[in-house]
Amino acid sequence: MTSEPTKVLFVCLGNICRSPLAESIFRHQAAARGVAGEFEVDSAGTSGYHVGAPPDARSVATALGRGVPVKGASRQLRTKDLERFDYIIVMDAENFESVERMRREIGSEVRVHRLREWDPERDELDVPDPYYGGSDGFERVHDLVERSCEALLDHLLSERVRA
Ligand code: 4NP
Repeated sequence: MTSEPTKVLFVCLGNICRSPLAESIFRHQAAARGVAGEFEVDSAGTSGYHVGAPPDARSVATALGRGVPVKGASRQLRTKDLERFDYIIVMDAENFESVERMRREIGSEVRVHRLREWDPERDELDVPDPYYGGSDGFERVHDLVERSCEALLDHLLSERVRA
């Protein structure tokens, strides 16, 4: 077991709906399993549209209803993140392309994955953007982020045992 925490950065477009939620759910699940100290977790957006803004109130309300606090302020992804984090977990194909472009530009070896690679009930690879939809969209996003993060956590824990 390595002693250095595994550094995981969740990334979406605005860093107000999906990635703060994934960050919070992952942190909550790690704490529930008693392994919070094995991870360093953060989130960022590929855009600067909402820099400084709190998480979307609909993401916060849905998560709070399930006992998961969602906090923080939006920040934009920077090249330094690709050097600092071990994993960048993106929400959709557009985020993937943005991060991959950045990764190629600086020759980083950070591992870039889409969250739903770990979704056991995956019907598509994107975490849909709930920003312009209703509250049922946020409930659905919460469900699929929750089950994907649980499986991602299993995967990262098994990697730490092997390392
Ligand atoms: P997020 O959602 O990427 O999950 O934070 C969005 C938030 C804002 C916008 C798009 C997506 N926007 O276009 O302002």
